[in-house]
Amino acid sequence: MDQNALKRAAAQAALEEVVEGAVVGVGTGSTANFFIDGLAQMRDRIAGAVASSEATAARLRGHGIAVLDLNDVTTIPVYVDGADEINARLEMIKGGGGALTREKIVAAVAERFVCVADESKQVGVLGRFPLPVEVIPMAQAHVARQVVRLGGEPRLREGFVTDNGNLILDVHGLAIDDAVVLESKLDHVTGVVTNGLFARRPADVLLLATPGGVRRITRG
Ligand code: A5P
Repeated sequence: MDQNALKRAAAQAALEEVVEGAVVGVGTGSTANFFIDGLAQMRDRIAGAVASSEATAARLRGHGIAVLDLNDVTTIPVYVDGADEINARLEMIKGGGGALTREKIVAAVAERFVCVADESKQVGVLGRFPLPVEVIPMAQAHVARQVVRLGGEPRLREGFVTDNGNLILDVHGLAIDDAVVLESKLDHVTGVVTNGLFARRPADVLLLATPGGVRRITRG
């Protein structure tokens, strides 16, 4: 079973988590895209979707799914999104696609975060995947210096601008023992918009696709 087949299997399982008649939050990336494609089959049974990126909004609209402004929505029972890494506490690194800020906003509103991932995303310690940090352009050098003080090696994602008009620093060389603490420290660096650690608001459910089937893991 190749990685795409596993991603599709996790995304398919997530359709069962969607609350009928309600708004669903939709993440960004290749696994989320499989979810969107599946969601098209039940578009008449949901109240619409809130998108975590322009790319996701375009794909949803392409399937005839209504895309709602988050400011017009008070309740999102379920948010479905992928991850770049996820640990046993269901803390994640996200933002490989650069959509981390909007993903974190939708996740903050959602009652339940359902992470869809193939088994390659499961790790013991977060940090082998470079941690994305979205920064205001004029603060890039300042934030990079502060990241070095925290033990990381920041690299500018060349030629990339986020949906919010900002830059991404990918931080290499971190072994993240306490993701909650590092998430807060990075967020307190002036000029940082968001960092890709989802630890203060981890996933509630992980649908982990393996060659033996999709495992449903809940946060203990
Ligand atoms: C997008 O910014 C990311 O947070 C994605 O959710 C993450 O990179 C997972 O992407 P794939 O599903 O493409 O692996």
